[in-house]
Amino acid sequence: MSKRIDVKDLNVYYGNFLAVEDVNINIQAKSVTAFIGPSGCGKSTFLRTLNRMHEVLPGARVEGEVLLDGNNFYGPGVDPVTVRTQVGMVFQRPNPFPTMSIRDNVLAGVKLNNKKISKGAADALVEKSLVGANLWNEVKDRLDKPGSGLSGGQQQRLCIARAIAVEPQVILMDEPCSALDPISTLAVEDLINELKDQYTVVIVTHNMQQAARVSDKTAFFNIAGTGKPGKLIEFADTTSIFNNPGQKATEDYVSGRFG
Ligand SMILES: Nc1ncnc2c1ncn2[C@@H]1O[C@H](COP(=O)(O)OP(=O)(O)OP(=O)(O)O)[C@@H](O)[C@H]1O
Ligand SMILES: [Mg+2]
Repeated sequence: MSKRIDVKDLNVYYGNFLAVEDVNINIQAKSVTAFIGPSGCGKSTFLRTLNRMHEVLPGARVEGEVLLDGNNFYGPGVDPVTVRTQVGMVFQRPNPFPTMSIRDNVLAGVKLNNKKISKGAADALVEKSLVGANLWNEVKDRLDKPGSGLSGGQQQRLCIARAIAVEPQVILMDEPCSALDPISTLAVEDLINELKDQYTVVIVTHNMQQAARVSDKTAFFNIAGTGKPGKLIEFADTTSIFNNPGQKATEDYVSGRFG
């Protein structure tokens, strides 16, 4: 299920503004990769290119290739909607559909893809996804209640269940814990740790301890100044990024001496 992502010579633009320059990176299947770096260096922008979400903004475009197990999903004729079913996304703020029931929230992505499924199959998928998101026991007796009635941490796990339900190969998460308390953060981190058995996970985080706890590999992005493009500075095993970085800028950033 899980797939490798290889990025080749990727430039990311908003109109004429080059936001992220010349990224080359190989993201392993069944692993967690963390993106770290100062605000504005292009982490979210780059992450959104990994499921073709970037280009939904007017004028936003990319040059280069992103290969999912060897297939360039920026190639001619590739449907971005198909890419997004293979590469799911979880956002910074939990964004369940507030009036929709917990059950329908889990199924929302599946229904968007126009998949017709029987009630029995839907029930099974809801349970499987909620179990996968470590939320089943907390919500199994109130599946028909609105998603907005859950705590922030539960809502974020509901969004993860919604992403899993589509059965993607890759899950992208942009600061998934930034709106959560420490207990919910640990619950989501435990979940990320379990997800990598099945999925390729990429997470953007400002929390160094979190990157150190959950990721196998870490990519450090940096920016030379306002108006300059963000760049990938160093990509290595998380332990070496934190204990033995190869670049001075990485060392300054991870040790908090930045700026
Ligand atoms: N919709 C947009 N239109 C134009 N420029 C944008 C847009 N979104 C982001 N940018 C610019 O692209 C650059 C990278 O922004 P991005 O949000 O990717 O940074 P980031 O590393 O995720 O920062 P943060 O840590 O604050 O979330 C910034 O200069 C930002 O101003
Ligand atoms: Mg961001």
